[in-house]
Amino acid sequence: MPRQTIQTQAFSDQQPGTSGLRKKIAVFQQPHYLENFVQSIFDSLHDFAGQTLVLGGDGRYGNLEAIAVILRMAAANGFARVLVGRDGLLSTPAASCVIRKHKAFGGIILSASHNPGGPDGDFGIKYNTGNGGPAPEKITDAIFEHSKHISEYHISDEVDVVLDQVHDFRLDGMRVSVIDPVTDYAELMASLFDFDAIATLFRNGFRMRFDAMHAITGPYATEILERRLGASVGTVINGVPLPDFGGGHPDPNLTYAKELVEEMLSDDAPDFGAASDGDGDRNMVLGARFFVTPSDSLAVLTANATLVPGYAAGLAGVARSMPTSMATDRVAAELGIDCFETPTGWKFFGNLMDAGKVTLCGEESFGTGSRHVREKDGLWAVLFWLNILAVRQQPVADMVREHWARYGRNFYSRHDYEGVDKAGADALMTALRARLATLPGETFGDLRVASADDFSYTDPVDGSVSTGQGIRIGFESGDRIVFRLSGTGTEGATLRVYLERFEADMQRHGQDTQAALADLIVLAHEVAGIQRYTGRDAPTVIT
Ligand code: G1P
Ligand code: ZN
Repeated sequence: MPRQTIQTQAFSDQQPGTSGLRKKIAVFQQPHYLENFVQSIFDSLHDFAGQTLVLGGDGRYGNLEAIAVILRMAAANGFARVLVGRDGLLSTPAASCVIRKHKAFGGIILSASHNPGGPDGDFGIKYNTGNGGPAPEKITDAIFEHSKHISEYHISDEVDVVLDQVHDFRLDGMRVSVIDPVTDYAELMASLFDFDAIATLFRNGFRMRFDAMHAITGPYATEILERRLGASVGTVINGVPLPDFGGGHPDPNLTYAKELVEEMLSDDAPDFGAASDGDGDRNMVLGARFFVTPSDSLAVLTANATLVPGYAAGLAGVARSMPTSMATDRVAAELGIDCFETPTGWKFFGNLMDAGKVTLCGEESFGTGSRHVREKDGLWAVLFWLNILAVRQQPVADMVREHWARYGRNFYSRHDYEGVDKAGADALMTALRARLATLPGETFGDLRVASADDFSYTDPVDGSVSTGQGIRIGFESGDRIVFRLSGTGTEGATLRVYLERFEADMQRHGQDTQAALADLIVLAHEVAGIQRYTGRDAPTVIT
């Protein structure tokens, strides 16, 4: 058979413990770099001969070239079949859906999520297992080990790869099935949500705007919202995926989804607005002149889940990442279900879902998901909201205010200090850690520290322990500040400061979030010495 074994040199600049490799595209373009990582993935897996692999990416610069290389390597390594999205496209949640539906051995997803793309942007690759979720640490650690010692990789010589149409072809004996990237996912959505009720909502004049940010959700949103649910043409903006995301930063937050946010805050705002990120797993939702924080979104979905057909039987439990606000905890308490607090990152939710302990989960970083796949899912969250709105027939703002009136409100904000000096950021965290034991009991103005720790998580399913997951400072008032360093940045370090204040008193609910948190913001600076260690006196991004 026309295949080669290429001699290569080891590299080891990927971080162990992360679910994939994310670097500048220029790094990926070095000779053998992508191939080394892909071979390291294959070398870490066992018994996949004769099995099926799912393959797709978010369409960013370099996507199609990488897909062709991986197909040739999958053939040379012995996979029997690869399911690949047309034009090499698959959103992250759709890849998870396809892996599960077709009982594939696993999948390779090409994406750097919300990081910018294009010739100067980022690229990424990760492996998902047969449950549709990101590879667990024992596999990512094995990949890392292999990448340090790799000396050769296998690749087919056949280069005849046609991906722009739905068809099957043979590549060096391996069957390649080019699939429509949207179909399986759209069917799954139709099985969970009341499409008729949502279609009626649109027919009755409900107006929506969905900003796909020139990233992967364009084709998904256009097919589902406009074609299947009858939202008016033009509901989806920036709907054509571009290799450089149109020069934008495909991160659905108040800073980067500017076009959408401006419209939603205007006098003529539509009823509902939403955006998704580069690979389609994140979501932001807004009502007319009203921003819903991701933490509140999870709480509202939890409280209203039984209105949606796919969740009518109730929730087994819910989970949120540690820095996510505690709004969902109170809903869970009232429903009498468990609420798990996990470290940042999606992989911790997978075990809880596989074990049937949770149905819904979410993170403050615009990620929400459920057991339907094993990734967070942007468009799914948007459809969940639409289904609830179709049942409740209420403006978004009224619905959330009613929620606050019932459960209380968690004022919440994340302050990011992006691209700071790594040594300074590390020193800040080290100094904070050194003070943990003495902080409880200290007072800052009116606020008295009740607890301080470096979050550690013991997985209730497999017993694995993850330490050093972020510094939590809790106050007697119920307020909370969390400090952690980003694990996904590609330049310098990013310090994230999460601020939270619980407010039961409706009189104060009218307040602006930053104003409501003002004294906590000052305190965060004081206690961590942000200016001293990073040279910054204000964050780069406030969410
Ligand atoms: C960020 C988010 C985190 C999310 C991750 C991957 O990680 O904060 O919630 O799971 O991206 O999308 P961080 O950069 O904070 O490590
Ligand atoms: Zn993403």
